[in-house]
Amino acid sequence: MVKSGKNIVLTGFMGTGKTVVGRAIAQTLDREFVDMDTLIEQREGMTIPEIFTRYGEAYFRERERELCRELARRRNLVIATGGGALIPGENLRALTETSTVICLTCDLEEILRRLNGDENRPMLWGGDWRERVRTLLEHRKAAYDRIPYHVDTTHLTVEEVVKRVLLLSDTRFTTPLRIPVTTPMGSYEILFGEGALNQVGELLSDEQIGARIAVVADENAWEFHGAKLESNLRRGGLDPLVIRLPSGEQHKTLETVSFLYDRFIEGGLDRQGAVLAFGGGVVGDVAGFAAATYLRGVPLLQLPTTLLAMVDSSIGGKVGVDHPRGKNLVGAFVRPLAVLTDPRLLDTLPPAELRCGLAEIVKAGIIGSPALFRHLESRGTENLAWIIWEAIQVKVGVVEEDPYERGRRAVLNLGHTFAHGLELVSGYHLRHGEAVAIGMIVACLLAEQIGLCSTGLVSRVENVLVALGLPTRYKELSPADVWQAMATDKKRRGKRLRYVLPRNIGDVIVTSKVTKEQALRALEEVRA
Ligand SMILES: NC(=O)c1ccc[n+]([C@@H]2O[C@H](COP(=O)([O-])OP(=O)(O)OC[C@H]3O[C@@H](n4cnc5c(N)ncnc54)[C@H](O)[C@@H]3O)[C@@H](O)[C@H]2O)c1
Ligand SMILES: [Zn+2]
Repeated sequence: MVKSGKNIVLTGFMGTGKTVVGRAIAQTLDREFVDMDTLIEQREGMTIPEIFTRYGEAYFRERERELCRELARRRNLVIATGGGALIPGENLRALTETSTVICLTCDLEEILRRLNGDENRPMLWGGDWRERVRTLLEHRKAAYDRIPYHVDTTHLTVEEVVKRVLLLSDTRFTTPLRIPVTTPMGSYEILFGEGALNQVGELLSDEQIGARIAVVADENAWEFHGAKLESNLRRGGLDPLVIRLPSGEQHKTLETVSFLYDRFIEGGLDRQGAVLAFGGGVVGDVAGFAAATYLRGVPLLQLPTTLLAMVDSSIGGKVGVDHPRGKNLVGAFVRPLAVLTDPRLLDTLPPAELRCGLAEIVKAGIIGSPALFRHLESRGTENLAWIIWEAIQVKVGVVEEDPYERGRRAVLNLGHTFAHGLELVSGYHLRHGEAVAIGMIVACLLAEQIGLCSTGLVSRVENVLVALGLPTRYKELSPADVWQAMATDKKRRGKRLRYVLPRNIGDVIVTSKVTKEQALRALEEVRA
């Protein structure tokens, strides 16, 4: 079951559940569990409060330091550290070499509730309890931030935390994670897990649908994974009507929708049936629109097969097609019945497509996940499943707050205002993800120029994008043309030019208070 013999180390503040979660994981994986605090107590023959009273904190920290070195030499352990054990950088470094180190986090109020005045915590001795917890948390924040992986446990059950930790530790396990999404039209789940495709029939048997299911498939995704999908659907008692679509944005049209209606009717798809979109954003959008309108709407299932579709287009309910006058001009909001996301499908995705999806993931990090961004900075695409899962959380958070795109959802357009201009002026030679990468740099430069963010931000973002193989600069295009393209595009849609600008990683604002001169200057700078 376990791919590597790497240890799994759980650290984080007291009350975040390191011990309970650690024990549960050890049991699931049939591994030895080490609770550092308990082991030190056993070896010293006294409790931690006693060690503190008798020998002082420095003595205790020295025991932790030794133990970290000792455990780093072993394999296949699940380790729960003391809350302060990995604050010294050397302890963290020692363990990181042979372990996946994960920091469990939790909101202050919930920590207080969980600790409930526990007197066995010497670090909290003296002074007002709440104040002690608050200051200690603040004091340790920078050190916890250095830990590569984070799981926020505030609203999660132990079981849910266990699943997330397993995902992070690159340990294969079989039940998909469920990410709930709430919309005004009702809620649904994103079923997420490596190998989830093998369980598609079983997973869909929970849904209230009849046997007839129209599978609208991207030709390439079908070629690689179609046989498996089909046999798994049949195994789940479903009767698939397979409709393959040629790949490419040029097919995201009303003609394709009309073609799909014909196939649905011929294939006997009725209201009890469902449409399963199997492909990237193009198939998801076009099949989704057909599902939303056929017979005034039949249930839609999304099974994204590109990175972009997994982290972006399959989430949020927007479906639609292009019009000769512009992209995505015709569409609808739908609530899918479920989304099934299996990162293994990406094994066959061409690298250029993968990179484009990564641009949207960097965007997600800048918008709402410093942990994701830091991971990309320090580890690149290592542990892609976790990266995807984290990016999904960011998008889910944004669309739940603004399901119909009336406000906050605009943040998802970080880099996109410029990207649309760049794509247009390049005659679509620049791929969408590439244009978004450059667009994000323009947005950072603009933010820096107007004093919104600190100077280090541009190079941090640029380093991440470059390491992922994405472009960040352009030479051939004229800034004036790009600006013109941006402005006309917006005007035609009756919208004002709005800019999404970063104040910091995880903190962006939407503003229209940017002059043409400022935008042009940023576009000029990016040619350097
Ligand atoms: N609805 C939304 O909220 C939303 C959000 C963002 C983007 N979009 C739309 O998404 C579309 C772009 O989506 P995309 O980037 O997924 O492009 P895409 O659907 O065109 O897929 C990209 C390429 O990958 C191939 N492919 C797909 N899965 C594969 C697999 N597993 N193995 C090998 N090849 C595979 C396809 O055949 C295609 O050639 C655009 O039309 C955009 O407007 C929609
Ligand atoms: Zn995009």
